[in-house]
This record gives sequence, structure tokens and C-alpha cells, in this order.
Amino acid sequence: MRNKNDEYSAKKRRRKNKWIDGGIVLLLIILSGSVLWIGTNGWSVENAVDRIQNGSKPTVDFLEIEGPSDSESTGPTKRSQENTSPSDMPSEAPLRKPEDPLIREEIQEEKSIGPAVPQKPIKPSNPTGYIKGQKLPKEPKLIKGVLLVNKQYPLPKDYAPGESAEAREAFNELAAEAVISGINLQAFSTYRSYEYQTTLYNRYVDRDGREAADRYSARPGYSEHQTGLAFDIGEVNHEKHWASNSFGDTEAAKWLAANAHRFGFILRYPKGKEEMTGYMHESWHYRYIGKDTAEQLFKRGITLEEYLGVR
Ligand code: DAL
Ligand code: ZN
Repeated sequence: MRNKNDEYSAKKRRRKNKWIDGGIVLLLIILSGSVLWIGTNGWSVENAVDRIQNGSKPTVDFLEIEGPSDSESTGPTKRSQENTSPSDMPSEAPLRKPEDPLIREEIQEEKSIGPAVPQKPIKPSNPTGYIKGQKLPKEPKLIKGVLLVNKQYPLPKDYAPGESAEAREAFNELAAEAVISGINLQAFSTYRSYEYQTTLYNRYVDRDGREAADRYSARPGYSEHQTGLAFDIGEVNHEKHWASNSFGDTEAAKWLAANAHRFGFILRYPKGKEEMTGYMHESWHYRYIGKDTAEQLFKRGITLEEYLGVR
């Protein structure tokens, strides 16, 4: 009788131990899976959770969170095309041919950011710079008469002025003077529609992840290119430096940095000012702002955010 009881208890213990062993193995699998998942998301728990919630691609829902309000259009006349190269750029993005300038821009940007995900991303207090849940406004933000677009001040979705004629005229004057110094400048990307910025941004997110893309590409509605006042400038026949960090070392970039203000342009994303502007340094991205204001910013060595008192 006792033997039977002992045998029964031993069996029960073995069964219980089996369950415990199974539980520990399962726990270990879950733990290592989580560590692996967070690791593939740049060691960012926020990113890992985001990707579980949104899938590997940002969905339209994700874009809707930041942005488009269903407000009425109050902006200027709608224009759907984007100016990515003055002469030969087709008007719509998805069917672009590989030789299109913007494809080259993307290739160059790929080069310029180096490793897809920075090894140790610097985490500012507000990691993305964006305001969570912010809707796109009905009107663009003007401070001191200057149109401000950054990660806190977006544009209405239907704000579509096309390339600014005044900025183009100023660029032509600037380019004409640069020629005297033997520099042939070209604006390879200027006005971009909300829709085109959506295509670009999503492509970068797919390629590099959201955290890395946010350092160099604006989310739809948040790009200065949508104002028609931002000009990405490079040298004719030097496409390899277009939208690349290597442009910063060229004579053309140095000439621009020293002279663009005289024509009303400012270097919008200067070196070491990522915390102010929200973006890493872009030696090719100039913003037309008018001569007087550009002179002031240049002389004081400050960003647009500092000048307008929002930083
Ligand atoms: N590259 C700048 C930040 C833009 O996407 O507007
Ligand atoms: Zn740009």
C-alpha cells in the first residue's frame, strides 16, 4: 500500500517537474525573442513596440496620426507637381526612372548617412522632435512675417504653392555670380508636394527605420520643400556630391556657405545644430528667406529657430 502511494507521489512529482521545466524553457524562448526583436529595432523599445503595432511598414494610419486634418483648404492655389530638377523632371514620383535626379538624391542620401542605423543614436529629451498626436494646421505658421516649417510647425496638407518664383529668381542671380568663380550651380530639388514627400519619407523609413529616417527626412506635411522656398543645391555634372555629405568639402559648398545670404538664402540645417533644427547637417539644403533676414541670420550665426525665438 505504502509502495503504491510512494509510486503515485513520485509520478505526481515527475509530472509537476515536467511542467516547471517546460515553463522555464518557454520563458527563456520568449525572453531571447524579445531581446532579438529589440536588437533588430536599433535597441529602441519604442521602435520595437511601434513595429509590432504598425507592422514593418508605416501604414497610412500611422501617417494620419501625425497629420492630415480634414480641414478646408486655405492655402494658395493647388499645384500637384514637384520641381526636382528645373528642366527634365517628370511630374509624378512613383514611376520615376533610375536616371531621375531624385533617385540620385536618394542614392546620395543613402551614402551620406553612413550606417543605416547609427551605432549609438543621440537621444534628445524629445527623441523624434515631433509632437505626438499633432494634427496638420489650417494655416501655415508665420512668425515676424517669416514662414516657419519644422517638426513642431507643419503645413496644411493642401498647402501647394509650387516653386517660389522669387526664390528661383534669387537663385538664378546667385548662380550667375557663382559662375564668375568657376562654379556651376544647379537646384536639383526644390518644391515637393505633400504626396511626393509621403512617398520619399516612407521609402526612407522602409530602408533605414523610422528613427534614422527622422534625422534626415521630414514626415509628410513637415517638409520645408512643401513651401517652394527650399532649394537643394549642387554642382552641374557633379551628381555624386548631390545630397551627400561629401558636398560640404567642395569649393561650391564653401562658396555657397559664404555667399548665399547675399541673395536671400540661408543654410537651413547647419553642422552641430541638430537639436535646434531637428535635422542632421545638410550642406546642400538652402532656404530662401529674403536678403535682410538672411543677412541678419548669417551675421549672428544663428538658426531660423533661434531667430524666430522658438528655440
Ligand atoms: N531633408 C529635409 C529635412 C526634408 O525632408 O525636408
Ligand atoms: Zn532639402
